[in-house]
Amino acid sequence: MASVKLSAPSSQWIAGERSLDRRSRILTAAPRRRVAVGPIRAGSYTDELVQTAKFTASSRHGILAIDEQDAEASIGLDNTEANRQAYRQLLLTTPGLGEYISGAILFEETLYQSTTGGKKFVDCLRQEKIMPGIKVDKGLVPLPGSNNESWCQGLDGLASRCAEYYKQGARFAKWRTVVSIPCGPSALAVKEAAWGLARYAAIAQDNGLVPIVEPEILLDGDHPIERTLEVAEKVWAEVFYYLAENNVVFEGILLKPSMVTPGAEHKEKASPEMIAKYTLKMLNRRVPPAVPGIMFLSGGQSEMEATRNLNAMNQASNPWHVSFSYARALQNTVLKTWQGRLENVVAAQKALLVRAKANSLAQLGHYSAKGESEEAKTGMFQKGYTY
Ligand code: 13P
Repeated sequence: MASVKLSAPSSQWIAGERSLDRRSRILTAAPRRRVAVGPIRAGSYTDELVQTAKFTASSRHGILAIDEQDAEASIGLDNTEANRQAYRQLLLTTPGLGEYISGAILFEETLYQSTTGGKKFVDCLRQEKIMPGIKVDKGLVPLPGSNNESWCQGLDGLASRCAEYYKQGARFAKWRTVVSIPCGPSALAVKEAAWGLARYAAIAQDNGLVPIVEPEILLDGDHPIERTLEVAEKVWAEVFYYLAENNVVFEGILLKPSMVTPGAEHKEKASPEMIAKYTLKMLNRRVPPAVPGIMFLSGGQSEMEATRNLNAMNQASNPWHVSFSYARALQNTVLKTWQGRLENVVAAQKALLVRAKANSLAQLGHYSAKGESEEAKTGMFQKGYTY
């Protein structure tokens, strides 16, 4: 398949690349200490990775995450290929979606799938100027030697899978691992999560895919917000340590963090302003400004909460594009409206545009929750969520 062409490189990208080269030369030319320091590189794709990341993190835009394989189950539909295709067709043929959405995270089936009329889903996305992305991890399994924690599989064969996905039109990837606060987290689990993310990121970049780096700190637990901040700082410090050790180009990645909130079972709820304060504190302490975009997950918050929190974060002026990469918080009302019926498709597409627009406004800090539906206020927290 021909490669996806979205827009021409801007001079900013080129300038960013030049300074990267300068830094590489300085690092290689003047080794004062006896440490092996090589150039920062990402194979032959560096320029394109930087462009892809910038494009996906462009103003007013965010990511639609549809890499869960059984979203239909939440409205009682069977998890069949026909139902999965019908639902993805509804989402990916929504007219005007590209006004608010710059990237869509698919799972493997969708990347190779077509509409019932025979049009490839990647072509539907291309038409709306939406970057196709792909979930590349192979899921969570128990981590022996830890405190009942898990690790994320998928490094075996990852390079060849990424190369194939690139040929099919994917331009970014996602790898989600999780950290549990009630389980510790143990030093082993944090190190494993960070190292796995960094290896994945280096391999994805080497094959032309911008890696979305997602160490999800689960909402589970009754801890206060301060504890989440402490854990998030620890996790992101390790993630960036290993990303650097693996020579990952920071200008060519996107982050998908959890917002810093109290545990789901904590006695007090935090306001959007409080969540924004703690989350931005963590990000400012840990994330270099070279990273183009912070694309939050919603983690089980209601649609409205996720949008309000994003809006609060965009009241500050931030060094990165601060936006969304929601699955549940973009799709809950859509699914409830659709109910698997053809006659509801147009209404469900309208519901998707309503949420996408609300989050686009929140990306600019211009959202108001006035007039939100009851459905949009319904929380979706679920223990052991797997995507
Ligand atoms: P939500 O937490 O927004 O449902 O997304 C999880 C995820 O990682 C989907 O890509």
